[in-house]
Formats: sequence, structure tokens, C-alpha cells
Amino acid sequence: MKILAIETSCDDTAVAIVKFARNKTEILSNIVSSQTEIHKEWGGVHPALAKREHDKNLPLVFEKALNNFKADAIAVTVGPGLDPCLWSGIGFAKKIAQEMNLPIIPANHIEAHILINLLGKKTKFPAIALIVSGGHTQLILMTKIGRYKIIGETKDDAVGECFDKTARILGLGYPGGPAIAVMAARISNLETRISKQNSFKIQNSKFKIHLPRPMINTKDYDFSFSGLKTAVLYDFKKRSGKERESEGYKVEMAKEIQQAAIDILIKKTLSAINDFGAKALILGGGVSANEELRNQFKKRVREKEYEIDFLIPPKNLSTDNAAMIAVAGYYNKKKATRNYDGISARPNLRIG
Ligand code: KG4
Ligand code: ZN
Repeated sequence: MKILAIETSCDDTAVAIVKFARNKTEILSNIVSSQTEIHKEWGGVHPALAKREHDKNLPLVFEKALNNFKADAIAVTVGPGLDPCLWSGIGFAKKIAQEMNLPIIPANHIEAHILINLLGKKTKFPAIALIVSGGHTQLILMTKIGRYKIIGETKDDAVGECFDKTARILGLGYPGGPAIAVMAARISNLETRISKQNSFKIQNSKFKIHLPRPMINTKDYDFSFSGLKTAVLYDFKKRSGKERESEGYKVEMAKEIQQAAIDILIKKTLSAINDFGAKALILGGGVSANEELRNQFKKRVREKEYEIDFLIPPKNLSTDNAAMIAVAGYYNKKKATRNYDGISARPNLRIG
């Protein structure tokens, strides 16, 4: 079975074709057109501009992805996401479904971030999935494919959003996550040490920045990242113009922002693994492309000697793409329909 998938929930226009077979599952094409340059000016995604770009780019991305492949069904993201952007992808999916005489499978973007980890792989259940992106920070208990329960989520900003906003304060550009990661990496591991709390401290720190770790010790699995942003703003405001502009300040601050987020995410996720007796840990979403986050998660899981599967997508499949929508479509193939009118955008669609 070959699935052609379309993803336009945020600021990436993506089309992919994935072939699912008993013995070999293969991504035949996977094209992502990023709108980063357009949204830079706003420091975040501008929905109306994003829709305009999706409408413009979809036919081009589609042509490139389609090549000469023939698909059996079309999967499209129906939510969660930005309403005008979702409609852009859905409208396009309906048009080509009609032309190609194919059924449409509606797909959930969050489920797709989870299931991309199962492309050509199996895992054990129950699993704990941590989805970290620009729009979401959720801990999800997964008892089997298709059965999910959100056990915790952010009360305010998503972690990716926190990176985007704090990077803007520091003047590091957009998207903030990768910009913060690049800055933070300028402090080599030799210059950091692990403190008793298992957190990194910068050796010979000039600026002695310490950000809070909001909600890290609460018994639930919820998160809060807006306080982190406020703390960055306060610290930034109390610095002199010269300090703010200095590379040293930006590097130390980026490292501390990244580490604060990692500390919180790891602590809550490991608690969930323990409490639910999870046999697998699954990461997904744009922030899971972060190298430090990946390494520190691996290290902590190894230290704890958990007998669990640990799944993280390759970096290009952590951030938004359509191959993941094809996988979500495949596992939801029962929902395939030719009643195109029944398919609509669901901006607040929740998993489970
Ligand atoms: O999953 P995604 O591509 O789109 C959404 O569904 O939101 O995630 C985008 C988010 C952005 O906030 C971006 O700053 C963050 O993921 N991000 C990263 C990295 N790459 C993307 N954050 C930290 N480190 C990265 N390497
Ligand atoms: Zn996403």
C-alpha cells in the first residue's frame, strides 16, 4: 500500500509518499518546504501569511514528491494546527483525491509525531510518549497503537514556543530552538560540570545566570514554560547594553535556557515511566531534534538501567514532515473515506 500524505498544519508545506509492505516499509519521497524566511520578521508563525504560502507551494511540492509514483490513498493532517493552514492542505487533498479517484484518510498531527517512530519498527507497550514542539508539550500514555491518554501537558507555552520567544529576546533569530542550540553548543562540555541535581553548571561562569525550573517538583505530569520566558526577560533587562550584546552573555543564557527545559522534560518523563511501568519511551516533535536533549535523555535512561525501548526519530523526521502523516494514515486506514465533504479542519483536535 502506498500513501500520499499532505501536512500543512503550521509553517511547513510537506508532501510525502510512503510504501507500506509486510517485509519492507520505505519512504519513497519526502519533501518539506519551509517558510522560515517569511515568518522571521514576526518572530512566530503568521497564520494568514502561512496559508498564502501553503496555497502557493503545495502544487510545487506535490509535483516534486509525486514523481511517477502511484498512491492508493491520500492522508492529510486535519488537526491540531492553525485553522487556515489546515484548510489549505485539506482543500488540496480533496482536489487531488477527486482527480486521482482516491480515498482520503484524516490524520492527527500529534499521533503522527508518535507513530513516525514505528516506521519499520515495533515496540513494547505501555509506552510513554513525550511530544515537544512549537505548539505542544504533552506526555502521553500509549497502551497500544491507536490508544492514547494525555497524562500531562503544558499549562501555558509549549517548550518550542519558549525557545522561540526567548531567542527573540536575545536577538538570536527564528526559529528559536535551533538558534538556541547553536549558541548553547559554543560552551563545550569541558566547560560544564554536572551538579548534584544532575544538572549542568557552567564552569567559570561570568554571568552566573540561574533560571527557574517551573513545576519540576510537582507530582503531576504537567508543564509550565511561560515563567522561564519571564525570567529570561528579567535577567536581560537588568544587564547593561554592552553585556546584553556580548557573545558570552548570549551563549551562557542559551545554555541555561536549553538546560532548564531539558531538566524539566527529563524529570517529568522519567517519573511517568516509573509510575506507569512503561516498557518504551518515545520522543517526537521539533524540539526532539535538539542534540543535547537527545543525548541527555539517552544518558539518563542508560543510568537508570531501565529495560525499555527508546525511540527517537532521525532529526529530519522529528520536525514537521509528511512522512509521519503517511504513517498515521496507514495505522488509521479504516477511516479512509470518499465522502470528502465530511472532512474538515479541527484546529483543537486532541489525541486519545
Ligand atoms: O514539530 P515542529 O516542527 O512544529 C510544530 O508542530 O510546532 O516543531 C517546531 C518547534 C519550533 O519551536 C522550533 O524552535 C523547535 O521545534 N525546534 C528545536 C530544534 N529544531 C526545531 N528546538 C530545539 N532544538 C532544535 N534543534
Ligand atoms: Zn509538529
